[in-house]
Amino acid sequence: MATVGFIGCGMIGSTVAELAVAAGHAVVLSNSRGSDTLKELAGELGPMARAATAEEAADAGDLVVVAIPLLAYHSVPVRPLVGKAVIDADNYYPPRDGHIADLDSGQQTSSGLLQYHLRESSVVKAFNNIYYRHLASLARRAGAGDRSYLPIAGDDTQARAAVTTFLDTIGYGAVDAGPLAESWRQQPGEPVYGTPYGPYEDPRGRPASEPAIRAALAAATR
Ligand SMILES: NC(=O)c1ccc[n+]([C@@H]2O[C@H](COP(=O)([O-])OP(=O)(O)OC[C@H]3O[C@@H](n4cnc5c(N)ncnc54)[C@H](OP(=O)(O)O)[C@@H]3O)[C@@H](O)[C@H]2O)c1
Repeated sequence: MATVGFIGCGMIGSTVAELAVAAGHAVVLSNSRGSDTLKELAGELGPMARAATAEEAADAGDLVVVAIPLLAYHSVPVRPLVGKAVIDADNYYPPRDGHIADLDSGQQTSSGLLQYHLRESSVVKAFNNIYYRHLASLARRAGAGDRSYLPIAGDDTQARAAVTTFLDTIGYGAVDAGPLAESWRQQPGEPVYGTPYGPYEDPRGRPASEPAIRAALAAATR
């Protein structure tokens, strides 16, 4: 079992943290307002969880999940993440994040921006394409007939393997979507974004098989 650090513990971060604790991992939680504001969540998650600063969460994690508004990516601590696999759950929403020219033009992917910021880490895009309520409800053990799959994209083979293993422990299969340059295929608006897991109105979601996720990635256009 690993220690998973969290930078951002809102809807998606806290959901991944809950699944991680259920799978037996230790979690270190952080946000922008300080660890006092995460004591309640840590208490709910139990003895495997603690609240900390972003620097401490980055330092403690064998694997670190970034789940913050994209506009804040510059504040993700660099030094404690050197040499680590970093899961990027973020999406680019111009109404929230403002306009970023390289993303608007398609010259860059949002995970590519984080990778550029974290030059000595290995960024893997995952969790960005699933609604947090569906992520909570669709987790299934390995071998279950109705297991769901998530696309992952990253440049480093070992980091992609580590993320695949982590996903497996928390109840999901992974579909390798290639390097970060291909991660536009799982960005907002593409077929694999949200749709395969059912409508947001139904919090139970709908299981999405490996072939369904592969087909949705292949159907992406830009
Ligand atoms: N909601 C979903 O279903 C979903 C699904 C997939 C991907 N996403 C993406 O995941 C990211 C997070 O979404 P969310 O829905 O979880 O947002 P959220 O509920 O608003 O949570 C955002 C979290 O990020 C923290 N944060 C903000 N700035 C930070 C900083 N500079 N350093 C450390 N922590 C910081 C916030 O802490 P404070 O509250 O203390 O500021 C909060 O814990 C977004 O990019 C979103 O597009 C969301």
